Amino acid sequence: MAKSATISKSPLHNIFTAIPSHYDLVNFIGTLGMDKRWRRLAAEACVETKPLRVLEIGCGTGDLTINIARLADKGTELIGLDYSRPMLDKAREKVKKAGVDGRVKFIEGDASKLPFPDASFDVTAISFAFRNLTYKNPICKAHLSEVVRVLKPGGRYVIVESSQPENGFIRAINHLYMWVFVMPMGVILSGNVSAYKYLAKSTTDFYSPKEVRELLMSAGFKDVRYRPLFFGAAGIHVAIK
Ligand SMILES: C[S@@+](CC[C@H](N)C(=O)[O-])C[C@H]1O[C@@H](n2cnc3c(N)ncnc32)[C@H](O)[C@@H]1O
Repeated sequence: MAKSATISKSPLHNIFTAIPSHYDLVNFIGTLGMDKRWRRLAAEACVETKPLRVLEIGCGTGDLTINIARLADKGTELIGLDYSRPMLDKAREKVKKAGVDGRVKFIEGDASKLPFPDASFDVTAISFAFRNLTYKNPICKAHLSEVVRVLKPGGRYVIVESSQPENGFIRAINHLYMWVFVMPMGVILSGNVSAYKYLAKSTTDFYSPKEVRELLMSAGFKDVRYRPLFFGAAGIHVAIK
């Protein structure tokens, strides 16, 4: 596995090295199993333009990577990057099981210092890590400018992430669900209080689709499209460079 020169150690990094064994299960229960479909839809958005090179950032245990590998043309080069070695170890096991291990390369690296030349990817993708990289994260700007840098002109950044339902009542139910169900369930299954407190806090405080659009446009993208999922509890942004 290739390794970038410096990988920042932050409280978030500790969280993502501590939770991999329960991570998939909590995701599955917390989203009532819908996370699988949401990643598949994001993978469809990734392959729409028949990309030659795709980079997934914060690939975690590899679920989006596997979806993209299944849908992309055989010649597409696919790289998954994450700064948590335990997450990458799981990802490598899972791509093997899924029979797509020959098609994916994993790299340990930081999203704010991408170890790739300018304009080297047709698509960058991210699933459920965009919030981590942008919500009250000092590397937010550096991450976005790195994505713009490594994308080819016309390239796309496909983001699937939790979101804020537009309807106030649905938003309130969604926030309640995060605090009274997902957070305690994550704590019980993993024993990690700070990881799942962080999840509930960052999800319920996270930006609206309009704010995400503004963030992406101010980073230099020319256009941003948005598709809400499950009443807006999640959504897919596609930003075009
Ligand atoms: C919530 S998990 C999402 C994992 C996976 N993409 C998914 O769909 O389940 C966030 C991932 O982003 C990674 N991550 C967070 N900050 C990062 C950074 N600065 N550089 C690289 N990876 C990062 C974490 O290690 C973790 O694997």
